[in-house]
Amino acid sequence: MANPLLTPLQFRNDTTAPNRIWLAPMTNQQSHRDGSLSEEELKWLKARSEGGFGVIESCATHVSLDGQGWPGELGIYSDAMMEGWRKLAGAIHDDNAMLIAQLFHGGARAMPTDDGVAPWSCSTVEKGKVTVRRGTPEDFERAIDDFAKAARRVHDAGGDGVELHGAHAYLLCQFLSTTMNRRRDRWGGPLEHRARMIRRVMQATREAVPDEFVVGVRLSPENYGSTKGLDIDESITVASWLCEDGADFIHISLWDAKRESTKYPDAHPARLFRDALPTAVPLITAGNIWTVDDALQQLDYGADAVALGRSAIANPAWPRRVVRDAQPPTRPPLTRQQLRKRALSDEFIEYMCKWRGFVESKETEPS
Ligand SMILES: Cc1cc2nc3c(=O)[nH]c(=O)nc-3n(C[C@H](O)[C@H](O)[C@H](O)COP(=O)(O)O)c2cc1C
Repeated sequence: MANPLLTPLQFRNDTTAPNRIWLAPMTNQQSHRDGSLSEEELKWLKARSEGGFGVIESCATHVSLDGQGWPGELGIYSDAMMEGWRKLAGAIHDDNAMLIAQLFHGGARAMPTDDGVAPWSCSTVEKGKVTVRRGTPEDFERAIDDFAKAARRVHDAGGDGVELHGAHAYLLCQFLSTTMNRRRDRWGGPLEHRARMIRRVMQATREAVPDEFVVGVRLSPENYGSTKGLDIDESITVASWLCEDGADFIHISLWDAKRESTKYPDAHPARLFRDALPTAVPLITAGNIWTVDDALQQLDYGADAVALGRSAIANPAWPRRVVRDAQPPTRPPLTRQQLRKRALSDEFIEYMCKWRGFVESKETEPS
């Protein structure tokens, strides 16, 4: 019998991914200064579609210039970006994988633009020398429109879908958070108001693209790391509303997918989400998934697919080598030479040095 991870994944709009193994969205700072796709970025993603990942997610990709989080970030904020996306979609499709762009606005975590325009969010934030401006409804409407236009560009460039980045304390998550969103107007306060931004983005995006184009969302269900002011019951309610608004998948970012919910120590987040969401909407989980058993355990908890981050960096052909051929996964630390062989550029390797224990710190390379 086929390993369930290698069976097709169907979305409710009849689009099908060839398997249930996704490349998680991963920032790699390899794009050109203007946000256009570089050969390095193409090479790193292509090596994963060649390796058998059924869905290739791009890194967080800014939909507006004032939403860019860091240098070297991939962009989809203007038509000038589309040439790169066309090339990427063609390369990924040659391997029969799906290309899903992660659409992103950094909000309070964006960097000032080249023209010195300060970032904005739902509420003011003091960030060292930078004061994050309290956004206006005009800023919100512009960002909603930018998400929708970006999705349309991905569609027109031949991509298969988009994922709205509603996790990790970026703009959409900032609105959802009770601590980051201190507004008392129709964009803050009760959950219905805090969820207005992400719902409006979902609705506008859904309207901008045809039915068969997949539109999903990534959420942080609870507080982990920089994510504050979230509650899993609220996150599940938001996910249900987003399904009503047309979401084709819900992706929960767990960092450690083996862990139960913090609020409900007897329940796994995937089980709680799966029980509350329509069965036709696939649930994806990510976080520290290395072995086939780790991944199958997620399906047992109720996930329909898994997204691999660091294990996909270390194992570009994880679906073929680890699942089909039952080989043990390579684990960190990896040397620079090993990472280069896995289609990472020196910039990306430098970035990976910030992830504790991932890159071998000793200069000597094994033979
Ligand atoms: C280098 C790196 C870059 C990441 N960039 C993003 C990103 O752009 N968007 C996002 O939603 N998550 C991002 N993440 C989080 C991953 O998608 C994933 O959820 C997380 O790494 C946990 O999975 P893992 O243990 O398999 O790495 C990043 C993680 C890593 C390691």
